[in-house]
Amino acid sequence: MKSNNLNANHPSYYRKGFDTWIPSFYDLFVSIALFGNQDKIREMFVNKLKEQGKRPKKILDMATGTGDVAIKLKKAFPEADVTGIDLSTEMLAFAKKKADKNLLDISFIQQNIETTTFNEGYFDAVTISLGLHEIPEENRLNTIKEAYRILKKGGKFIIMDFNKPTNWLSRLLQNLHFILFEPKYAKSILTEDLIGELKTQGFREPKKEIAGMLQIVYDVK
Ligand SMILES: C[S@@+](CC[C@H](N)C(=O)[O-])C[C@H]1O[C@@H](n2cnc3c(N)ncnc32)[C@H](O)[C@@H]1O
Repeated sequence: MKSNNLNANHPSYYRKGFDTWIPSFYDLFVSIALFGNQDKIREMFVNKLKEQGKRPKKILDMATGTGDVAIKLKKAFPEADVTGIDLSTEMLAFAKKKADKNLLDISFIQQNIETTTFNEGYFDAVTISLGLHEIPEENRLNTIKEAYRILKKGGKFIIMDFNKPTNWLSRLLQNLHFILFEPKYAKSILTEDLIGELKTQGFREPKKEIAGMLQIVYDVK
């Protein structure tokens, strides 16, 4: 793994589990939480970048975890430099192992998504999947601000995170998920005004799409 510890101070909200027991079970948890649809959902997420005319050359996946989105990005855009950042060296180690197994050259780097070390306007696309709910509300705004800073003009930012389902059974299951597996502040993502926050940071026409238990919010800088 290409490692860079410069910016790796762990914030107080950071869940130690991500560096201990969670990585081994993470992919299994996701497949249960998304009813086995994780591949389809992530492909739909990555395909949002194909809607843009130009193919992105530099792509950053924030809070990449065990790397499934970064891997799908590299498969969809083999010519692009794909980087995945996360604070957990353990999650990154799983990501690296999966990328190696798929013979994919992806840089996995330990960095805080709120304060990355990348230059302004460096990336053609920035993605974050299931990462924003992991950090408290005030830190989410920092992350959106950081994504805006490191995006090129015309570059695309895409967020995927939990959405409140309309179906009562899905709502019940989602509530259980939040109670059992997530920090207290995570649930506020369901009512967060992500469109308003993107606008505050300079995005002009953010859009939101609902996909059952998930929402996708995106815009071009
Ligand atoms: C629920 S996982 C999401 C993983 C992956 N993106 C996915 O779609 O499955 C959240 C990840 O966010 C990381 N994380 C939490 N706070 C972070 C921060 N401030 N900077 C970087 N990574 C962070 C955790 O280590 C964890 O790997």
